[in-house]
Amino acid sequence: MGKSPRHLLGLQGLGDRAMADIVARAETIQARGARPVCAGQQAVLAFFEPSTRTSTSFALAFQRLGGQVVMLNVAQSSAQKGETLHDSLSTLLAMQPHFLVLRHGQNGGLQPLAAATETSVVNAGDGAGEHPTQALLDALTVKQIKGRLNDLTVAIVGDIRHSRVARSNAHLWRQMGSRVVMVAPPELLPDVDDYPFAFFSTDMAQGLKKADVIITLRLQKERLEKQLTISADDYHIRYGMDHEKLSYAAPDAVVLHPGPMNRGVEISSTLADDATRCAVLRQVTNGVATRMAVFEWLTHAA
Ligand code: NCD
Repeated sequence: MGKSPRHLLGLQGLGDRAMADIVARAETIQARGARPVCAGQQAVLAFFEPSTRTSTSFALAFQRLGGQVVMLNVAQSSAQKGETLHDSLSTLLAMQPHFLVLRHGQNGGLQPLAAATETSVVNAGDGAGEHPTQALLDALTVKQIKGRLNDLTVAIVGDIRHSRVARSNAHLWRQMGSRVVMVAPPELLPDVDDYPFAFFSTDMAQGLKKADVIITLRLQKERLEKQLTISADDYHIRYGMDHEKLSYAAPDAVVLHPGPMNRGVEISSTLADDATRCAVLRQVTNGVATRMAVFEWLTHAA
Protein backbone atom coordinates (compact mmCIF):
# COMPACT_ATOMS: atom_id res chain seq x y z
CA MET A 1 0.00 0.00 0.00
CA GLY A 2 1.41 3.39 -0.98
CA LYS A 3 0.92 6.82 0.46
CA SER A 4 -2.80 7.64 0.63
CA PRO A 5 -3.77 9.41 -2.58
CA ARG A 6 -4.68 13.05 -2.89
CA HIS A 7 -8.09 13.87 -4.31
CA LEU A 8 -9.60 17.06 -5.68
CA LEU A 9 -13.29 16.95 -4.84
CA GLY A 10 -13.96 20.64 -4.22
CA LEU A 11 -12.41 23.95 -3.23
CA GLN A 12 -14.53 24.47 -0.11
CA GLY A 13 -12.10 23.66 2.66
CA LEU A 14 -9.09 23.07 0.38
CA GLY A 15 -7.16 26.05 1.71
CA ASP A 16 -5.64 29.02 -0.06
CA ARG A 17 -2.12 27.56 -0.08
CA ALA A 18 -3.11 24.51 -2.08
CA MET A 19 -5.08 26.64 -4.55
CA ALA A 20 -2.23 29.11 -4.98
CA ASP A 21 0.17 26.16 -5.38
CA ILE A 22 -1.90 24.72 -8.25
CA VAL A 23 -2.17 28.11 -10.00
CA ALA A 24 1.60 28.63 -9.61
CA ARG A 25 2.30 25.17 -11.03
CA ALA A 26 0.11 26.00 -14.05
CA GLU A 27 2.11 29.20 -14.61
CA THR A 28 5.38 27.27 -14.42
CA ILE A 29 4.10 24.65 -16.88
CA GLN A 30 3.11 27.42 -19.32
CA ALA A 31 6.47 29.15 -18.96
CA ARG A 32 8.79 26.13 -18.97
CA GLY A 33 6.82 23.23 -20.42
CA ALA A 34 5.57 20.10 -18.72
CA ARG A 35 7.52 17.36 -17.00
CA PRO A 36 6.39 13.77 -17.71
CA VAL A 37 5.21 13.24 -14.12
CA CYS A 38 2.40 10.88 -15.20
CA ALA A 39 4.46 8.64 -17.48
CA GLY A 40 3.33 5.03 -17.09
CA GLN A 41 0.12 6.08 -15.34
CA GLN A 42 -3.48 5.67 -16.40
CA ALA A 43 -6.48 7.94 -16.00
CA VAL A 44 -10.09 6.95 -16.56
CA LEU A 45 -12.35 9.83 -17.59
CA ALA A 46 -16.00 9.12 -16.84
CA PHE A 47 -18.41 11.87 -17.87
CA PHE A 48 -22.04 11.03 -17.10
CA GLU A 49 -23.11 14.56 -18.12
CA PRO A 50 -22.35 16.32 -21.43
CA SER A 51 -18.95 17.96 -21.83
CA THR A 52 -16.88 19.46 -24.62
CA ARG A 53 -14.05 21.48 -23.09
CA THR A 54 -13.65 19.88 -19.67
CA SER A 55 -13.33 16.30 -20.89
CA THR A 56 -11.05 17.16 -23.83
CA SER A 57 -8.94 19.37 -21.64
CA PHE A 58 -8.46 16.69 -18.96
CA ALA A 59 -7.51 14.16 -21.64
CA LEU A 60 -4.97 16.47 -23.32
CA ALA A 61 -3.54 17.48 -19.96
CA PHE A 62 -2.94 13.91 -18.82
CA GLN A 63 -1.42 12.92 -22.17
CA ARG A 64 0.88 15.94 -22.16
CA LEU A 65 2.20 14.67 -18.81
CA GLY A 66 3.05 11.34 -20.43
CA GLY A 67 0.05 9.38 -19.16
CA GLN A 68 -2.54 7.24 -20.91
CA VAL A 69 -6.23 8.11 -20.95
CA VAL A 70 -9.24 5.85 -21.16
CA MET A 71 -12.49 7.68 -21.85
CA LEU A 72 -15.65 5.89 -20.81
CA ASN A 73 -18.27 6.21 -23.51
CA VAL A 74 -21.26 6.78 -21.22
CA ALA A 75 -23.82 6.62 -24.04
CA GLN A 76 -22.71 3.02 -24.62
CA SER A 77 -21.97 2.12 -21.01
CA SER A 78 -23.91 -0.01 -18.56
CA ALA A 79 -25.47 3.19 -17.18
CA GLN A 80 -27.88 2.61 -20.08
CA LYS A 81 -28.65 -0.88 -18.71
CA GLY A 82 -29.78 0.38 -15.32
CA GLU A 83 -26.51 0.14 -13.39
CA THR A 84 -26.42 2.68 -10.54
CA LEU A 85 -23.79 5.41 -10.56
CA HIS A 86 -22.31 3.92 -7.41
CA ASP A 87 -21.95 0.49 -9.01
CA SER A 88 -20.45 2.00 -12.19
CA LEU A 89 -17.89 3.90 -10.13
CA SER A 90 -17.03 0.91 -7.94
CA THR A 91 -16.49 -1.07 -11.15
CA LEU A 92 -14.12 1.52 -12.59
CA LEU A 93 -12.22 1.79 -9.31
CA ALA A 94 -11.87 -2.00 -9.08
CA MET A 95 -9.63 -1.76 -12.17
CA GLN A 96 -7.26 0.38 -10.11
CA PRO A 97 -6.47 3.27 -12.45
CA HIS A 98 -4.15 5.90 -10.98
CA PHE A 99 -6.76 8.62 -11.56
CA LEU A 100 -10.52 8.73 -11.96
CA VAL A 101 -11.89 11.99 -13.37
CA LEU A 102 -15.59 12.14 -12.84
CA ARG A 103 -18.56 14.25 -13.91
CA HIS A 104 -22.11 13.35 -12.93
CA GLY A 105 -25.45 14.92 -12.07
CA GLN A 106 -25.61 14.27 -8.31
CA ASN A 107 -24.42 16.81 -5.74
CA GLY A 108 -21.56 15.58 -3.60
CA GLY A 109 -21.32 12.03 -2.37
CA LEU A 110 -17.77 11.44 -3.62
CA GLN A 111 -16.06 11.60 -0.21
CA PRO A 112 -16.79 8.03 0.97
CA LEU A 113 -15.79 6.66 -2.41
CA ALA A 114 -12.53 8.60 -2.43
CA ALA A 115 -11.73 7.65 1.17
CA ALA A 116 -11.88 3.96 0.29
CA THR A 117 -9.65 3.88 -2.81
CA GLU A 118 -6.00 4.13 -3.79
CA THR A 119 -7.07 5.97 -6.95
CA SER A 120 -6.88 9.77 -6.99
CA VAL A 121 -10.42 11.01 -7.60
CA VAL A 122 -10.93 14.32 -9.41
CA ASN A 123 -14.29 16.07 -9.53
CA ALA A 124 -14.99 17.43 -13.01
CA GLY A 125 -18.44 18.70 -11.96
CA ASP A 126 -20.98 17.11 -9.59
CA GLY A 127 -24.55 18.32 -10.14
CA ALA A 128 -24.94 21.78 -8.62
CA GLY A 129 -22.06 20.96 -6.24
CA GLU A 130 -18.54 21.94 -7.27
CA HIS A 131 -16.33 22.24 -10.34
CA PRO A 132 -12.94 22.87 -8.79
CA THR A 133 -10.76 22.82 -11.91
CA GLN A 134 -12.99 25.41 -13.58
CA ALA A 135 -12.48 27.87 -10.73
CA LEU A 136 -8.73 27.19 -10.71
CA LEU A 137 -8.44 27.90 -14.44
CA ASP A 138 -10.51 31.03 -13.92
CA ALA A 139 -8.03 32.07 -11.23
CA LEU A 140 -5.08 31.50 -13.58
CA THR A 141 -6.81 33.62 -16.23
CA VAL A 142 -7.49 36.44 -13.78
CA LYS A 143 -3.91 36.28 -12.45
CA GLN A 144 -2.58 36.75 -15.98
CA ILE A 145 -4.87 39.70 -16.68
CA LYS A 146 -5.00 41.43 -13.28
CA GLY A 147 -1.64 40.32 -11.87
CA ARG A 148 -3.12 39.17 -8.56
CA LEU A 149 -5.81 37.06 -6.93
CA ASN A 150 -6.47 39.13 -3.81
CA ASP A 151 -8.25 42.41 -3.29
CA LEU A 152 -10.45 42.08 -6.36
CA THR A 153 -14.20 42.45 -6.68
CA VAL A 154 -15.53 39.37 -8.43
CA ALA A 155 -19.13 39.50 -9.60
CA ILE A 156 -20.82 36.22 -10.45
CA VAL A 157 -23.83 36.82 -12.69
CA GLY A 158 -26.69 34.58 -13.76
CA ASP A 159 -27.93 31.17 -12.71
CA ILE A 160 -25.91 31.00 -9.50
CA ARG A 161 -28.48 28.82 -7.75
CA HIS A 162 -27.77 25.80 -9.96
CA SER A 163 -24.13 26.46 -10.71
CA ARG A 164 -21.20 24.36 -9.53
CA VAL A 165 -18.92 26.87 -11.27
CA ALA A 166 -20.32 29.61 -9.00
CA ARG A 167 -19.81 27.53 -5.86
CA SER A 168 -16.18 26.66 -6.59
CA ASN A 169 -15.40 30.22 -7.67
CA ALA A 170 -17.08 31.75 -4.62
CA HIS A 171 -14.98 29.62 -2.26
CA LEU A 172 -11.80 30.30 -4.22
CA TRP A 173 -12.17 34.08 -4.32
CA ARG A 174 -13.17 34.28 -0.71
CA GLN A 175 -10.10 32.27 0.33
CA MET A 176 -7.88 34.45 -1.84
CA GLY A 177 -9.04 37.59 -0.05
CA SER A 178 -11.27 39.00 -2.79
CA ARG A 179 -14.87 40.19 -2.56
CA VAL A 180 -17.67 38.09 -4.04
CA VAL A 181 -20.86 39.69 -5.38
CA MET A 182 -23.73 37.57 -6.72
CA VAL A 183 -26.12 39.15 -9.20
CA ALA A 184 -29.22 37.40 -10.52
CA PRO A 185 -33.01 37.56 -10.62
CA PRO A 186 -34.39 36.49 -7.21
CA GLU A 187 -35.30 32.99 -8.42
CA LEU A 188 -31.71 32.29 -9.52
CA LEU A 189 -29.93 33.66 -6.46
CA PRO A 190 -28.68 30.95 -4.07
CA ASP A 191 -29.62 30.61 -0.40
CA VAL A 192 -27.86 33.27 1.65
CA ASP A 193 -26.76 30.55 4.10
CA ASP A 194 -24.72 28.89 1.35
CA TYR A 195 -22.63 32.04 0.87
CA PRO A 196 -22.72 34.10 4.08
CA PHE A 197 -19.62 36.00 2.94
CA ALA A 198 -21.04 37.20 -0.40
CA PHE A 199 -22.96 40.34 -1.33
CA PHE A 200 -26.24 39.73 -3.16
CA SER A 201 -27.98 41.94 -5.70
CA THR A 202 -30.84 41.58 -8.18
CA ASP A 203 -29.78 44.69 -10.08
CA MET A 204 -26.94 44.72 -12.60
CA ALA A 205 -26.07 48.40 -12.26
CA GLN A 206 -25.73 48.04 -8.49
CA GLY A 207 -24.16 44.55 -8.47
CA LEU A 208 -21.52 45.21 -11.12
CA LYS A 209 -20.34 48.46 -9.56
CA LYS A 210 -16.53 48.44 -9.24
CA ALA A 211 -16.34 44.78 -10.36
CA ASP A 212 -12.88 43.82 -11.63
CA VAL A 213 -13.98 40.38 -12.80
CA ILE A 214 -17.42 39.32 -14.04
CA ILE A 215 -18.16 35.61 -14.26
CA THR A 216 -21.17 35.07 -16.52
CA LEU A 217 -23.14 31.84 -16.17
CA ARG A 218 -25.42 29.87 -18.44
CA LEU A 219 -29.05 29.26 -17.45
CA GLN A 220 -28.80 25.64 -16.30
CA LYS A 221 -32.17 24.58 -17.71
CA GLU A 222 -31.42 20.93 -16.92
CA ARG A 223 -31.32 21.76 -13.20
CA LEU A 224 -34.34 24.08 -12.90
CA GLU A 225 -36.94 22.75 -10.46
CA LYS A 226 -39.66 24.82 -12.11
CA GLN A 227 -40.12 26.99 -15.18
CA LEU A 228 -38.46 30.40 -14.93
CA THR A 229 -40.85 33.32 -14.60
CA ILE A 230 -38.56 35.50 -16.74
CA SER A 231 -38.41 34.81 -20.51
CA ALA A 232 -35.06 34.32 -22.28
CA ASP A 233 -35.52 37.67 -24.06
CA ASP A 234 -36.27 39.55 -20.84
CA TYR A 235 -33.43 37.76 -19.15
CA HIS A 236 -31.07 38.99 -21.84
CA ILE A 237 -32.31 42.56 -21.56
CA ARG A 238 -32.00 42.66 -17.77
CA TYR A 239 -29.14 40.28 -16.97
CA GLY A 240 -27.39 39.43 -20.24
CA MET A 241 -23.80 40.72 -20.24
CA ASP A 242 -23.10 43.18 -23.01
CA HIS A 243 -20.88 46.21 -23.53
CA GLU A 244 -23.49 48.51 -22.04
CA LYS A 245 -23.76 46.64 -18.74
CA LEU A 246 -20.00 46.22 -18.71
CA SER A 247 -19.79 50.00 -18.36
CA TYR A 248 -21.24 49.66 -14.81
CA ALA A 249 -18.08 47.80 -13.75
CA ALA A 250 -14.47 48.98 -13.29
CA PRO A 251 -13.12 50.43 -16.57
CA ASP A 252 -10.75 47.49 -17.09
CA ALA A 253 -13.13 44.75 -15.93
CA VAL A 254 -12.76 41.38 -17.62
CA VAL A 255 -15.64 39.04 -18.46
CA LEU A 256 -15.23 35.30 -17.97
CA HIS A 257 -17.57 32.53 -19.09
CA PRO A 258 -17.02 28.82 -18.38
CA GLY A 259 -18.81 27.82 -21.59
CA PRO A 260 -20.93 26.56 -23.20
CA MET A 261 -22.25 30.04 -24.06
CA ASN A 262 -25.81 30.73 -25.05
CA ARG A 263 -25.28 33.81 -27.19
CA GLY A 264 -28.09 36.32 -26.93
CA VAL A 265 -29.16 34.96 -23.52
CA GLU A 266 -26.53 35.39 -20.77
CA ILE A 267 -24.01 37.14 -23.05
CA SER A 268 -24.26 39.20 -26.22
CA SER A 269 -22.56 37.84 -29.29
CA THR A 270 -20.59 41.06 -29.70
CA LEU A 271 -19.14 40.79 -26.19
CA ALA A 272 -18.48 37.05 -26.54
CA ASP A 273 -16.34 37.82 -29.62
CA ASP A 274 -14.53 40.80 -28.09
CA ALA A 275 -11.29 39.22 -26.91
CA THR A 276 -10.17 42.53 -25.38
CA ARG A 277 -12.97 42.28 -22.78
CA CYS A 278 -14.07 38.63 -22.74
CA ALA A 279 -11.56 35.90 -21.88
CA VAL A 280 -13.63 32.84 -22.78
CA LEU A 281 -11.09 31.26 -25.15
CA ARG A 282 -8.16 32.18 -22.95
CA GLN A 283 -9.93 30.28 -20.16
CA VAL A 284 -10.10 27.22 -22.41
CA THR A 285 -6.39 27.46 -23.22
CA ASN A 286 -5.60 27.86 -19.52
CA GLY A 287 -7.78 24.85 -18.71
CA VAL A 288 -5.21 22.46 -20.12
CA ALA A 289 -2.28 23.88 -18.11
CA THR A 290 -4.45 24.05 -14.99
CA ARG A 291 -5.45 20.40 -15.27
CA MET A 292 -1.82 19.44 -15.86
CA ALA A 293 -1.00 21.35 -12.69
CA VAL A 294 -3.77 19.52 -10.83
CA PHE A 295 -2.45 16.09 -11.88
CA GLU A 296 1.07 17.17 -10.92
CA TRP A 297 -0.17 18.34 -7.51
CA LEU A 298 -2.10 15.08 -7.05
CA THR A 299 1.06 13.04 -7.67
CA HIS A 300 2.77 14.97 -4.84
CA ALA A 301 5.50 15.95 -7.34
CA ALA A 302 7.83 18.56 -5.85
C1 NCD B 1 -19.86 24.25 -16.91
C2 NCD B 1 -20.31 22.98 -16.25
O1 NCD B 1 -20.46 21.94 -16.89
O2 NCD B 1 -20.49 23.06 -15.07
N1 NCD B 1 -19.17 24.07 -18.10
C3 NCD B 1 -17.85 23.70 -18.06
O3 NCD B 1 -17.47 22.75 -17.44
N2 NCD B 1 -16.98 24.49 -18.71
C4 NCD B 1 -20.93 25.27 -16.98
C5 NCD B 1 -22.22 24.95 -17.68
O4 NCD B 1 -22.55 23.81 -17.97
O5 NCD B 1 -22.94 25.92 -17.94
